[in-house]
Amino acid sequence: MNNVCNINGHQHAIICNKLTKVYGSQIAVDHIDLKIRYGSIFGLLGPNGAGKTSVIKMLTGLSSPTKGEAIVADYNVVKETLKVKENIGWISSEVILDDSLTSMENIWIQSKLHSLGKNWKQKAQILMKYFELDERDDKKVGQFSTGMRKKLEITMALLHEPKILFMDEPTIGLDANTRRLLWNLIKKINKEYGVTILLTTHYIEEADVLCDSLAIINHGKIIARGSSQELKSIVGGDILEIEFFSDFDFSILKNIDGIKTIREEYLSYKDDGSRPEKPLKLFIKVKNAETVLPVLISEINKFDPNIIKTIRIDKPNLETIFLELTGMHFKEVEDTSDKEFYTHKRSF
Ligand SMILES: Nc1ncnc2c1ncn2[C@@H]1O[C@H](COP(=O)(O)OP(=O)(O)OP(=O)(O)O)[C@@H](O)[C@H]1O
Ligand SMILES: [Mg+2]
Repeated sequence: MNNVCNINGHQHAIICNKLTKVYGSQIAVDHIDLKIRYGSIFGLLGPNGAGKTSVIKMLTGLSSPTKGEAIVADYNVVKETLKVKENIGWISSEVILDDSLTSMENIWIQSKLHSLGKNWKQKAQILMKYFELDERDDKKVGQFSTGMRKKLEITMALLHEPKILFMDEPTIGLDANTRRLLWNLIKKINKEYGVTILLTTHYIEEADVLCDSLAIINHGKIIARGSSQELKSIVGGDILEIEFFSDFDFSILKNIDGIKTIREEYLSYKDDGSRPEKPLKLFIKVKNAETVLPVLISEINKFDPNIIKTIRIDKPNLETIFLELTGMHFKEVEDTSDKEFYTHKRSF
């Protein structure tokens, strides 16, 4: 048992110290520090390629850190990998079920992988009852609905009574109803089984609904952490996103009451910084969108009544936090991650 977990009297299920993963010249995870308390549902939120799966792989002993260390369920992931594996369950976004077998046959394989004793079936029956799966169902898993498959995957991950459950993008590709069903299950097993859960997601709503603590990861680095409420306070106001048909001297707006900051943004090709490829866009942080917007529109109309293309109002949510921290929407980071784009920004 490693005592590193006893920090300020709190027990931590997961501790990462400067955890780093480098693949060739690619830094996938860049010196991350994390402390996740036992009993929590912790969300690692980030766009495609941010480094989420690489973190999970190191914490579950599937890949070794290039640098730094991690303690999971009180064991060192490098020096005590087997102990870590005994104490964790893992659900990946990839298919792990054998479609040609029944649910009980799939569970039997899992029990062998974890070298469970004769009582594996009894444990399986309890979990199946809990998740409302019919243990006498002799249908092949290939005929199961997505919701049933997810329930079975969770049953299998919990069979050896892990302290911590890792879920890598648990709801990716699910329809809205199945996603909600899974959210309820995740909350239920956390509350009733006391399992600590680390999940990764790039669904902002999912992190908001499920997680009591969050870290936002981008380009391998943790760029913010805290509860959803704490993270929302980073934004400190509503954001008006206004797109214009042509370039526009936004300095005429800066003295309007209630405006906190204005940031200009447009995308341009890397080797051609001279003119924006896309029309100008402004991100205007205001105390209250509803009171500022009419004044703002009337000022812009004085300059040119036909210049506004779109207006979007964002109340603080995890997406606006990401925008605030990176200057980009979640989707934009994903769309531009492998292209030769970069963002120009000017603020006052
Ligand atoms: N085995 C590998 N070899 C080389 N590069 C890798 C490998 N695995 C991941 N990477 C790179 O590391 C970076 C982080 O990848 P990772 O899979 O951890 O991101 P992610 O946040 O899980 O993304 P996604 O949301 O798409 O699942 C990416 O640039 C990826 O291309
Ligand atoms: Mg991933």
